[in-house]
Amino acid sequence: MNFLIVILPLIFFIAFKIYHTIKVPEGLKNVPTLSFFKFLYAFLVQDGPDKRWERLREILDKEGIVKVWFNGKWTLIVSDFGFVKDIIMKTDVYPKASLEEIFPGSLLAQYYGTNMVFSNGDVWKRHRRIANPSFRNLPAHVFVESAMKLLNIMEKVDNEPIEVNDFMHRLTLDVLGKVSFGFDFNNLEEPKNIYVNAYNEVIEELSKPLYFIFTFLEYLFPRPEAFKKVAKLNSLYDELVEKKSKLMKTGEIEKKINDNTADLLERMIYACNDPENQTLTSEELRYDMAIFMLAGHDTTANSLSTILYLLAIHKDVQKKVRDEIFRVLGDDLTPNMEQQKELKYMNMVINENLRLYPPIASLPRRINSQDIKFRNHVIPARTPILAFIYGVHHSSKNWEDPEKFIPERFQNEKHDNHAWLSFGGGSRLCIGINFSLMEQRITLCALLRKYEVSLPADSIHKDNLQIASDTSGTMGPLPVHLIFKRRTD
Ligand code: HEM
Ligand SMILES: *[C@@H]1O[C@H](CO)[C@@H](O)[C@H](O)[C@H]1NC(C)=O
Ligand SMILES: *[C@@H]1O[C@H](CO)[C@@H](O)[C@H](O)[C@H]1NC(C)=O
Repeated sequence: MNFLIVILPLIFFIAFKIYHTIKVPEGLKNVPTLSFFKFLYAFLVQDGPDKRWERLREILDKEGIVKVWFNGKWTLIVSDFGFVKDIIMKTDVYPKASLEEIFPGSLLAQYYGTNMVFSNGDVWKRHRRIANPSFRNLPAHVFVESAMKLLNIMEKVDNEPIEVNDFMHRLTLDVLGKVSFGFDFNNLEEPKNIYVNAYNEVIEELSKPLYFIFTFLEYLFPRPEAFKKVAKLNSLYDELVEKKSKLMKTGEIEKKINDNTADLLERMIYACNDPENQTLTSEELRYDMAIFMLAGHDTTANSLSTILYLLAIHKDVQKKVRDEIFRVLGDDLTPNMEQQKELKYMNMVINENLRLYPPIASLPRRINSQDIKFRNHVIPARTPILAFIYGVHHSSKNWEDPEKFIPERFQNEKHDNHAWLSFGGGSRLCIGINFSLMEQRITLCALLRKYEVSLPADSIHKDNLQIASDTSGTMGPLPVHLIFKRRTD
């Protein structure tokens, strides 16, 4: 904290200087502005996307866009549904900014390198082509085993409020490690083990908000310790890639693929063995492992936490979901794909949860390759653009009573104005969508069979779910304590 007291005035001074020397590009002059100081304040008090939306709703509903000076650039925040759709679908006009472009020399750029999420064009195609087949064979039994382990551990705290966000993060980390590269972080049973610590420390370093707003801090106050931690975790991934590449040569991977026990990395290494096609290097495979861990961990954990909260406060919905589980699955613990589709009401609840609390509240930024006309503005080429998904999901222009929890909205799956973008869309649709949905369904099946979930009367969330800051890139709740009462019937 001392560090902050010394450095904050300096930062404010520098920021003030920069603010005054930065000229607004011609095309953005008439775009409403979110003042830098308000923005900085929001960052420092750790506001979440919900507060951001509250502050901007009126102006965004009217204008569709605002600009904010962020990270040395005038950046556009977009909530207009049509514009956001364009941003997602027209990948040539709105290519993604690379991490090196956004945060040059940063820890983030070093750790995640060129990966599937932050690349474009042919490089992205190569990553996606190699990874696509592996995501078509998801091991439902791993999801079930992990859910069972979760229940066993929860058993020990039965009848006391349980902080679900922590449990869900431990669950999803274990699942990702196992499904992605056959590694058991064992975060559920042993939350303080060295691999979990290494992982958590890296994520913590990567999420420091000040380093996000002011990338030059990386040069002013370098973090050699943090870089060392990153190197350590990278070497774990490298070892796994190397080990599995050897298994490729002995034919063991092919065997695992044939009996359907291969993990994502093994399937990707297998796909790389096509002499006709370009492949991924070991380094690129490692970057993809790191990005899977990032993209699939907090996102799924947060959506499980928020859905459990919603079920806790909507007991009628909880009962309906549970009845459906028993009706569709009976005693079957491992629902096949067909049965998962049959869980129609649960799927509606999952969609509505992701609408209200989209874990990726703002898409990673794009930088437009050409001038863009939007209403009476001409957005100049090379403007950083953030598609504000939370705003699309919470605007009354797109949804009736947007703040209300109404799963039945999704009864009619194909209404025209389907402003639901939790997983993005188009060719860049989340590759982990089925992974995450399967994990959510299986975890809910396990929990709801056994427990009745409710919110303690003195919960900080009793009026509204309290949302944490999304500086790490994902949106989620503050700790949520819920009561899990063993069902008797
Ligand atoms: C509730 C859970 C999840 C949510 C809300 C979510 C959301 C998203 C969104 C919005 C995008 C598009 C980003 C953009 O257009 O800029 C995306 C892409 C991606 N997600 Fe997810 N995701 C989830 C789970 C997962 C999981 C479990 C994995 C991997 C195991 C994963 C891996 C990826 C990857 C690799 C991409 C990049 C795809 C590409 O650009 O081709 N995600 N995700
Ligand atoms: C590369 O792989 C893709 C998809 O599997 C395939 O359609 C294409 O024909 C391959 N290219 C070459 C040169 O073999
Ligand atoms: C998800 O699964 C459905 C079938 O259930 C499939 O049509 C779709 O292509 C899958 N999506 C991805 C991104 O793998």
